[in-house]
Amino acid sequence: MSDKIVVRNLSKIFGNNPGKALKALREGMSKEEILREQGQMVGVYDVSFSVRKSEIFVLMGLSGSGKSTLQRLINRLHEPTSGEILIDGIDITRLGSKELRKFRRKHFCGMVFQNFAILPHRTVLENVELGLEIQGVDPKKRQDRAKEMIRVVGLEGNENSYPDELSGGMQQRVGLARGLAVDADIMLMDEAFSALDPLIRRQMQDELLELHQKMQKTIIFVTHDLDEAFRLGHRIAIMNDGMIIQTGTAEEIISRPANDYVKAFVEDMNRSNVLTAGSVMQPVLETAFKGDGPRTILRKMRKKGLSGIIVTDTGRFVKGYVRADELADYIKKHGDMESIPFNDALLQEAAVVMEDTPLNEVINMYTDHQYGPFAVTDRHNRLKGVIVRGAVIAALSECR
Ligand SMILES: Nc1ncnc2c1ncn2[C@@H]1O[C@H](COP(=O)(O)OP(=O)(O)OP(=O)(O)O)[C@@H](O)[C@H]1O
Ligand SMILES: [Mg+2]
Repeated sequence: MSDKIVVRNLSKIFGNNPGKALKALREGMSKEEILREQGQMVGVYDVSFSVRKSEIFVLMGLSGSGKSTLQRLINRLHEPTSGEILIDGIDITRLGSKELRKFRRKHFCGMVFQNFAILPHRTVLENVELGLEIQGVDPKKRQDRAKEMIRVVGLEGNENSYPDELSGGMQQRVGLARGLAVDADIMLMDEAFSALDPLIRRQMQDELLELHQKMQKTIIFVTHDLDEAFRLGHRIAIMNDGMIIQTGTAEEIISRPANDYVKAFVEDMNRSNVLTAGSVMQPVLETAFKGDGPRTILRKMRKKGLSGIIVTDTGRFVKGYVRADELADYIKKHGDMESIPFNDALLQEAAVVMEDTPLNEVINMYTDHQYGPFAVTDRHNRLKGVIVRGAVIAALSECR
C-alpha cells in the first residue's frame, strides 16, 4: 500500500517567538517550562508519521495532548511552525493561498468536527450540501448527492428538519453525511462520536467501518477513547504533550507499549475489557412459567412494576420474554374466556448471555435486541440474573 500522507518533523508553537520555543524544546525543556518561562504554547512538537492510502489512522491521547492541532495542521487550518506535510508526494506547506484552496477542495473538504458544527438556520439537506456548495458543484447535482448521503447515514425523511429538531446522534449523522458527500479522498474526523451515548456511539463506529469498506477513503480519526481507537484504527498514534509516543496496530501497542505512559493507558483498556455480564447483572425480580397462564403472568409483572418478564421452565432454562403491553392486549381480546391458554406467539426470543461474556460484547448485541433485559445464564444455561440497559451504560461510563 502506498503512502497517502507523510508528515516529517512537524511542529506548531502558539506564540510570538516560535523559534525560541523550538530551540528550547531541542535543548530538552518541557512544554510546561516553555509556557511558564516564555508564555508560549507547544501545540505539536517534532511529529513524524505516514498514513497509507485507504487507512484509518487514529490520533489518540488525553485532552490537550495536541490531537486537534495536529489534525488541523494536516490541512493547514493551522500554519505549521516547521516541518513537512506531503499529500500524494506534494509538500503542502509550500503551497500559495490559491493553490492551497484548490488542494483543499480536492482532498480535504470532508471534515467532521469535534463539536457538530452544524449550521442552525440550515435544514439537514442544506447542511449536508455545504461542502459541495463550497466546491462549486451545481445545485441539482449537489442536492442529489446530499440526498444520497442522507440515506446512507440513515436520516432519510429528515431532509427538511432543522438541527434543533434532531437528537445529538442525528446531528452527528448530519456532520458525517456532510463529510461523506464531498468527493474528497481524505476525511478528517475530530472526536466525531464523542458526544454520543455509548450504545449509539458503537452503532456509529460500526457504520463508519461499513462506509469505509464501500468508500475506501483515507481517514484520520481523532479520539481520546482507547476503546474507540482500537476498534476503528488500522494503526494508532498515541500522543502526549504534543508528541507522538508510539505508532502501531492495537496489538503492537498492547503487547509492546513503548513506555510507562502507554502502558498505563493500555492497562485501563484491559480493565474495561474484563468487565463481564456477570459482574454487572442484577437479581431477577420475577420470572414466569407458561403454565401460569396469561392473567397470572400479567399480575406478577404489575406487582413488581415490570414492563416484561422472562419465561423459564422449572429448571430455570430461559424460554423467552413476554411484554406486558402485548400480554394485556391478548387478555383483552380473550377477556370472555374463563381460563385463557398461554399462546406461544406471545413469547419473544430473549436476549441471553453467559455470565462470563465481556461487557463489550454485550453492548454489541444491544442493537439486535431492543426489548427486555439480557438474561444472564451460568454454564448450564440456567438463569442467574438480568442486565437492564441502564446498567450497561453505567458500567461502561465507569470504566472510561
Ligand atoms: N489557538 C490556540 N492558541 C494557543 N494554544 C492553543 C491553540 N490551540 C491549541 N492550543 C494548545 O495546544 C495544545 C494542544 O491542544 P489541542 O486542542 O490540539 O489538544 P487535543 O488533544 O485536541 O485536546 P482535546 O482532547 O481536549 O480536544 C494545548 O495545550 C492547547 O492549549
Ligand atoms: Mg481536540
